[in-house]
Amino acid sequence: MSRIHLLNQLATSECPYNFGAGVPPLDQYPAFDPGYFYRVFLEEFPNKPVLHYHQSEGFLGELSQRVFQKDGFSDAKGGIITNGVQESITLATLLFKDSCVACTDPFYPGFVDAVKMSGNDTCFIDSEHWLESLESLVPGSLFYISADFANPTGKRITLDERKQLLAIAEKNDFYIFEDATYRPFFLDHSLPSLVSMAPERVFHSISFSKILSPGLRVAMTHVPSAFRDAFLSLKANVSLNSSGFTQAIVGGWLLKNEFSLSKHLDAFKNLMRNKQEFLLTQHVAYEGGFFVEMTLQHPSIDLAWCTELLAKEDVAACPMSLFSDNLTHHNKLRLAIAKISLENLKVGFMKIHNFVGS
Ligand SMILES: Cc1ncc(COP(=O)(O)O)c(C=O)c1O
Repeated sequence: MSRIHLLNQLATSECPYNFGAGVPPLDQYPAFDPGYFYRVFLEEFPNKPVLHYHQSEGFLGELSQRVFQKDGFSDAKGGIITNGVQESITLATLLFKDSCVACTDPFYPGFVDAVKMSGNDTCFIDSEHWLESLESLVPGSLFYISADFANPTGKRITLDERKQLLAIAEKNDFYIFEDATYRPFFLDHSLPSLVSMAPERVFHSISFSKILSPGLRVAMTHVPSAFRDAFLSLKANVSLNSSGFTQAIVGGWLLKNEFSLSKHLDAFKNLMRNKQEFLLTQHVAYEGGFFVEMTLQHPSIDLAWCTELLAKEDVAACPMSLFSDNLTHHNKLRLAIAKISLENLKVGFMKIHNFVGS
């Protein structure tokens, strides 16, 4: 079974201890009435081309600027609307198809598979010494990173690492794609985004999939001015423009939520804080986002191992080997913990330990 097929299957699985799927827990967010937000938008902007073909950049430029500014990116201009962050990643990899493109290992498969589709190969950077390794990137390269709560590791890079990364990018003259899909899910406070510190070096893409609904297929991407026209030409060829209907729904929602991507998540974050407390007792680090990494006393955790875990214990989880060719990560699981209840999280952990010990 292919990686994407397995991940899609886990996303719709009814398994009670499902740590496999990184799907958003929509039932734990405030009720979302798309029709209402659609009407709010039309009332405020009666002349936007909601029903028509329109410019490839979409029609939420001014609202995206407000969103970026609210998140501390004070020099923001209007972003480009894409069909999720995934389309934005795909367009960026096409833009850099003749250059070196890199990401850390373990990796987000949506990036690596898009690079493959563009006919290019990904250069993998060991996650342990990633800043040192970046010193060897040649000018004009693209480095993909989720600075906040990456998929699959769940890790967030520190402020100091952000500064070092941008200093190396400036010195070596390479570009960064900052995938901010999980950025709103901080439990303590947010750190400055990479784009807010270096707008002409960084592509910055935010998604409405995890905070609102993946059915919208709406993301907003800041593109450095040197690449904006080329990015838009690619977007025009791939999808003409994103849906006017769902842009309007997102627009209305933003108007009613004061352009904040995280304000509505307070109650959900309280649930996640309870999980964080339990994870601490298990020595599993968790600061925010949807994922944690669990290290086990077992040298080769692969798909066969996880298939048996599912059959014997009703626990669905992804082996980290699905996201890494580096054997040092093959004693780890990627656990998606956003949707599972605290009770099932605790029982699920017990079941995993039982299985390892059996
Ligand atoms: C890191 C990361 N980036 C992008 C995406 C895709 O987001 P979108 O639905 O906005 O295309 C996902 C979805 O799981 C993800 O985990």
